[in-house]
This record gives sequence, structure tokens and C-alpha cells, in this order.
Amino acid sequence: MSQHAAIPLLTPLLPDREALAPYLAKLDQNRHYSNFGPLNNALEARLAGMFEEHGAYPLHVTTTSSATLGLELALSSLDLPAGSKVIVPALTFVASLTAIIRAGYIPVIADIDAQSWLLTPEIATEAAIQTGARAVLAVAAFGQPQDTRHWSDFQRKSGIHVVIDAAGAFGSQWVEAPDIPVVYSMHATKSLAAGEGGLVVSGNSVINAHIRQLSNFGINLDSNAGFPVGHLSFVGSNAKLSEYHAAVAHASLDQWDAQARLRQDIYRAYRQALEDACGDLLQWQAGITLAAPTIFCLRMAAEARDRLETICRQRQIATRRWYQPLLHQHAAKVAPIIKQPTPVAEAVASGLIGLPFSPFLTGEDIARVTKAASLATASLTLTHQA
Ligand SMILES: Cc1ncc(COP(=O)(O)O)c(C=O)c1O
Repeated sequence: MSQHAAIPLLTPLLPDREALAPYLAKLDQNRHYSNFGPLNNALEARLAGMFEEHGAYPLHVTTTSSATLGLELALSSLDLPAGSKVIVPALTFVASLTAIIRAGYIPVIADIDAQSWLLTPEIATEAAIQTGARAVLAVAAFGQPQDTRHWSDFQRKSGIHVVIDAAGAFGSQWVEAPDIPVVYSMHATKSLAAGEGGLVVSGNSVINAHIRQLSNFGINLDSNAGFPVGHLSFVGSNAKLSEYHAAVAHASLDQWDAQARLRQDIYRAYRQALEDACGDLLQWQAGITLAAPTIFCLRMAAEARDRLETICRQRQIATRRWYQPLLHQHAAKVAPIIKQPTPVAEAVASGLIGLPFSPFLTGEDIARVTKAASLATASLTLTHQA
């Protein structure tokens, strides 16, 4: 039996009550608790400023009650005929899939790139030729950003709409093309944590206004729409961010720089320790250094992965096979889907493992996980040599 405390997979870092106090005081003053209140509106403006520092266009931010609702409403706002096909990568969280289905479309499950583990415009082009898809939901999987300019070229040349699911990529994914809506999560486990919440960011004010209206049941909010304000103009949902969640998001933003630095420092030391111990027996997702990592995911031979899971279980170290089963393995049970060949996603998934990661991870935790990984991969090398 292990003498050590358990190492959890994730430990959320949210602002404490002291950091929340000034925003809760505003709530008491305002007596406005939802429905696009002052804290929500200030949050949208604050975030738009942050995004604009990383882009060449004015950007609009619309909050939602979760990224899942943000995705569903962004897809609904495309106003495609019911049953239109929407391409999505096989390796992503189930919310990417459910958002497509709930918007009334049919998911086309496509493969990923072998290095970045992302759906690319090249893969989407092929899937669209095969299936006649009308839209793509590209995913910034594991927080690794998508290239919005590249997707904007794809959208312009193909006429196929693109939405980006960047639920786990706040701080690393920017919106450099004004015509590509990007959706982020503020769930407790994300880098900008509000408990629950989502953001849709785009350079197109019409798209953002449409999503805002969809988040408010579909009730017309625009006195210039040629339609009475307060009347239902299409079918939306209730996906508004409450003022309480906006308060937490403000306090999280106040701590953003320090928190992102801490996450980066821990990630760098952790990865270095694993690379020193296991060398090229480990594979990493190709891409940029993330601004604020929230999960720790890598790949190894399937046999080593299975062994590492067993060793970790014995040592009370939590692990997770992120985004598995693959999307089509879930989807086959819940709704009609179209499946493209996904050999790369299957190969990547066969050795993928998520190890514990949080801003609270200690050097001792890293040493324990590294020891487990070196045992799992060393015994694999010996087995192969035997
Ligand atoms: C890729 C992806 N999409 C969507 C979501 C859903 O985000 P939310 O919990 O804010 O609805 C997640 C959550 O982890 C995710 O990883």
C-alpha cells in the first residue's frame, strides 16, 4: 500500500472569497443578477480588449452559460438547413459532438493530424469532398490553438462555415481572423475559471448579436431589427451568464498573469523531468508552448500506457484517457453520424494518457509521477529486448 497521499488528476484554482469580495459588493449594490447585467457587460468589454491586443481587428465577446451552449448557439447561428453535415475531429470532448446534434445537424467524424493531433483544413477539405459537409467544428484539442487565418482561407475558398471549439484554450488561442467565431469555456477546470461559463469571440458584430439573442430565448433585443423588441424572432435557449459567474470571471482575470506563469512553470519542470527519465519513449503534441496549461497529456506505446495506468492506480496517482472513447464510439449509440476513416486518431488514442496536473502540483508529486512513468517505460524496453 502506498504511504503517499493521492495525487488527483485536476485541482481547480478559483479566486478565493477575498478576491471575490469587491465584485460581490458590486452585485449587492447593483441588485442585478442576470440578463446582461453590468458585471457581464464589463467582462465582455474587458475580454474584448484582451483579445484585441492579439489581433488586428475589433473583436466582440458574447458570454454564455457554458462553452457547450456557446458552441450550440454558434452552430445554430449559421442557420443551415436541418440535417446539414458538420465535420468534427474524432479526438475531442463529447460536447463538440452533442452541440452539433442539438443544433440539428449531422456530425461527420474526421481524422486528425499525426503531429498536432488537430483537425486541419486539409483533412476537412477531403472530408467535405467525400460527404458534402456545410460546416466544420474545428477543435483546439488539449488547449493547442487552431490557426484562425488558415481556417479563414478555407472558409472563403470553400464556402464551408467554420466555428472553432477552443473550450480549453483560453490564453493560447487568439482570434486573428475576424470571420471565424471561437468558443471558450470558463468551467472550473479551465485556465479562466468562473465555475461555469462560456465565451464566443468573433470580429463580426452580427454573429455575436445573433448569438446573444439566441442565448436570451431568441427574443429580439435590437430596436433597429424591423421587428418589435421583446418579441420572439427565432427559437433560442436560456444560455445567459449570471452576474455571479461574471463576478468570479472578473476576479479570475485579475489573477490571470500570475496563474498562467505558475501553470507554465509547473508544466515546463514536469515535462523536463519526464523527458529526462523516459527520453524519446514519450511523444508530445506538436505546437506552441501553451500560455496556461490545464491538463498534461502525452503519448507512449500502448503497452507502456497500460502498464503506467496500473502502476499509477497502485500508487494512488490519478490518470485519465482524455477524449476516449473516440467520438464515433460514443456517437454510434446516441445519434446518426457519418464516419470518415480515422486511422491517425485511433493510433494517437491507443497510447494517450492524461497525468495529474494542477497549479498545486509539487516537486514531490512530479517525482512520483516521473518514477511511475520510468518504471512503465523501462519494463517495456526490457520486455522488448528479452
Ligand atoms: C473540447 C471541448 N469542448 C467543449 C467543452 C465543454 O465546455 P463547457 O464545460 O464549458 O460546456 C470542453 C470541456 O472540457 C472541451 O474540452
